[in-house]
Amino acid sequence: MRSFTFSHAITRRPSASIIAGLRAVDTGTPDLALMQAHHADYVAALRSTGAEVVELGALETFPDSVFVEDTALCLPEGAVVMRPGAPTRLGEAAEMAPHLQRLYGSVKQIAGAEAFIEGGDILTTETEILVGRSARTNAAGVAELTALVADWGHRVREVFTPPGVLHFKTDCSLLDGETILSTKRLDASGCFAGYKVIHVAEGEEACANTIRFNNLVIMPAGFPRTRDVLDAAGYSVCEIGNSECAKLDGGMSCLSLRFTPKA
Ligand code: GLY
Repeated sequence: MRSFTFSHAITRRPSASIIAGLRAVDTGTPDLALMQAHHADYVAALRSTGAEVVELGALETFPDSVFVEDTALCLPEGAVVMRPGAPTRLGEAAEMAPHLQRLYGSVKQIAGAEAFIEGGDILTTETEILVGRSARTNAAGVAELTALVADWGHRVREVFTPPGVLHFKTDCSLLDGETILSTKRLDASGCFAGYKVIHVAEGEEACANTIRFNNLVIMPAGFPRTRDVLDAAGYSVCEIGNSECAKLDGGMSCLSLRFTPKA
């Protein structure tokens, strides 16, 4: 299953500048040492599935650069470098491009001056690519991505990230070829018609951002009712501390690019 079976991941170590990372609400300063420990656990979980993990060094110039997912969309045929809608994050994409070029034959670029799009707003399933318009991703960004990936035979469907929610995937994750984990508020928009949907438990909306990575569902620690639902549904759940990234509205998907380049 190409949407959750991966040979590679790219991560970037958190930088000391993470204390200046963007956040919707200030809930405290992230503790770098604790974030580094959680990050090491996360990378170990990815590696435990047999994937090769390319760990990039910290980038002090970009406080949010640990959240590499926003810089690119990785598909089997090639990668598309994004144009992040947060001005302080725009330069992160150019930092990622050479690493993708080393791993892929084909790397494209969102280039329109008015086009903005971040990877956190993109959910790739077996059959389509859902892109949620948000405060970071606009119609021009979705349109440009749609044209770029059509050449590789991929179909984009524009959807909408709920108001006040950072990214589309803040509120949902792919669990397998036909199943989505979602908050009730996002599912209520109707965007997952045709999929099987598992809702996160009431009050545990902050764990909707998980990742299915090979045999594992990697989710933030501290959400026992949703974990039990996923356990009971037969998923192999791996919990990773996320207290520090959560202060910056970050979760499990934000911390990696996951892909299998076509040979
Ligand atoms: N702090 C992550 C972001 O706002 O993009």
